[in-house]
Amino acid sequence: MVRHIVQSANQAADGRRTAPAALRNVGPLVEALKLRLPSKGRVLELASGTGQHAAAFAEAFPELNWSPSDVDPDQRESITAWQRESGLKNLAEPLAIDVSAPWPVARGFAVSVLTINLLHLIPKPLVSRLFEEAHGALSENGRMIVYGPFLRGSAYASDGDRAFDASLRTRDPAIGYKSLEAVSDIAHAAGFAPIAVDAMPANNLLLTFGT
Ligand SMILES: C[S@@+](CC[C@H](N)C(=O)[O-])C[C@H]1O[C@@H](n2cnc3c(N)ncnc32)[C@H](O)[C@@H]1O
Repeated sequence: MVRHIVQSANQAADGRRTAPAALRNVGPLVEALKLRLPSKGRVLELASGTGQHAAAFAEAFPELNWSPSDVDPDQRESITAWQRESGLKNLAEPLAIDVSAPWPVARGFAVSVLTINLLHLIPKPLVSRLFEEAHGALSENGRMIVYGPFLRGSAYASDGDRAFDASLRTRDPAIGYKSLEAVSDIAHAAGFAPIAVDAMPANNLLLTFGT
């Protein structure tokens, strides 16, 4: 399922991949994360993809230690290439984390867990599991931050969102957009309290929950 949905990306000779979507949203994400990330500590990023976000975020937030991760070994190679090229001391080697399996991190590993453009690619039961694992991986006063496209109730934000969701469900009927309300309920069931819903470009949302 998810692993077959390959992120569209170009690859440089040094192994760094660049995805057009990540180039477009990195600036707005940095600005929004300035309001939502804790000021110090470790951030665990799930499904980091190419690693270009992780490098940009580690540079933009020098007081935070950035731990990227991805299930896909090819993506992890690209993340490592971004880490090597950036020379950033606060950007760690990528962890091999599959959100459908227990995460190889200790309780309280991070002050924040962040994931960008993953929830619409995984089945709903896996979203519940992800929030439960995240709660265990977070320290006290931790923050769970998720970005992506969401339904508002049962409504799409645009015709483009409706078409994209339909294309996902054609590939795998178990995946596709989740509603803001469903994700908020899942977060609540995992022990999180709502903190903020930020409107982002291209109809996306940045959701922040606290432990
Ligand atoms: C659309 S890309 C988003 C990548 C990056 N966050 C971004 O926004 O550029 C989805 C990513 O999720 C990863 N992924 C898919 N299934 C996963 C799973 N079960 N556990 C962890 N990562 C997964 C893929 O390997 C891919 O890198």
